[in-house]
Amino acid sequence: MTTPTIELKPSAHPLSDAEREAVLATPGFGRHFTDNMVTIKWTEGRGWHDAQLAPYAPLSMDPANMTLHYAQTIFEGLKAYRQPDGTVATFRPDRNARRFQASARRLAMPEVPTDLFIAACDALVAQDRAWVPAHGGEESLYLRPFMFATEVGLGVRPANEYLFMVIASPAGAYFPGGVKPVSIWLSEDRVRAVPGGMGDAKTGGNYAASLLAQKEAAAQGCDQVAYLDAVEHRWVEELGGMNLYFVYGNRIVTPELTGSLLAGITRDSLLTVARDLGYEAEEGRVSIDQWKRDTENGTLTEVFACGTAAVITPVGTVKSRGGEWTQGDGGPGDVTMTLRRALLDIQRGIAEDKHAWMHRL
Ligand code: PLP
Ligand code: COI
Repeated sequence: MTTPTIELKPSAHPLSDAEREAVLATPGFGRHFTDNMVTIKWTEGRGWHDAQLAPYAPLSMDPANMTLHYAQTIFEGLKAYRQPDGTVATFRPDRNARRFQASARRLAMPEVPTDLFIAACDALVAQDRAWVPAHGGEESLYLRPFMFATEVGLGVRPANEYLFMVIASPAGAYFPGGVKPVSIWLSEDRVRAVPGGMGDAKTGGNYAASLLAQKEAAAQGCDQVAYLDAVEHRWVEELGGMNLYFVYGNRIVTPELTGSLLAGITRDSLLTVARDLGYEAEEGRVSIDQWKRDTENGTLTEVFACGTAAVITPVGTVKSRGGEWTQGDGGPGDVTMTLRRALLDIQRGIAEDKHAWMHRL
């Protein structure tokens, strides 16, 4: 089956420059969308077809669309950054393509070839490049590739029709407070994912599973939930939409990939960035007892969360049924901020892109 070419039928009535600039002045996260979107269909026996870029618009859907009932849906998140020379580049889109393929396999969906995934992202960014925020700040254009079943019917089985789409949204800070440290609620009984489940796939169900705990965290006055493993309720896994790093002086540790947490691309990149800066960086197991004990004995100096949307966000306080503690002095730590700056500098084209991570359009 051949890979289709994306037909360009962009919006004839994009937002005016003034309207777009007003949005870009305070973009927030995921609240505004650019003028266009990409849609590519997949049908059993035919493969990928009808690839097009067209004006951003609502979709119409049959009430018996299988996704609405059985949640066969996956997504990705990556960002496009304005470079110092005014051009635009995305960060490691090949990794998002590969993770999207892994998510598709887990949900018995067709895989989007890497070149088609990247071509779809590129087509949208190229068409809507005026929406990529100016160089200099922390804003970027967040791309949301996603795919869902479009077949109509109530039988429970993998669908034989899908729609792959890419939409884009200008993004400021994910947390309204900027780099203000977040507070964490340790979920000791509610789990996000189980061994053999789909915790390492980027699928809506995992986020749905996280919402009740998120609501309980908010009731405890906390911003985010940290999930523990589902068997021993002991090993720290990740937050609802971010991975975690523990800083022991010059050594940073992130929970190993057990299958029930997401293999974050920011997480992976930081293992490399940290080593480039002379830190020891490793994957390992961190228990909840260790988190508390090492904070109390002073060896665990900082904790931070990382992800595409949230970049790197320090953890300030941790609350659990067993008590509450503050990480360091409760403010952003030096290692956290050093790694944050180093990663953002690569993404914004200020630092050398030693590992060929930036994909220029
Ligand atoms: N964990 C979860 C559950 C996420 O949703 C995300 C966000 O994508 C991450 C971790 C971080 O992954 P990445 O760095 O690839 O954005
Ligand atoms: C991302 O960082 O891209 C995420 O997917 C996190 C969240 C917005 C779901």
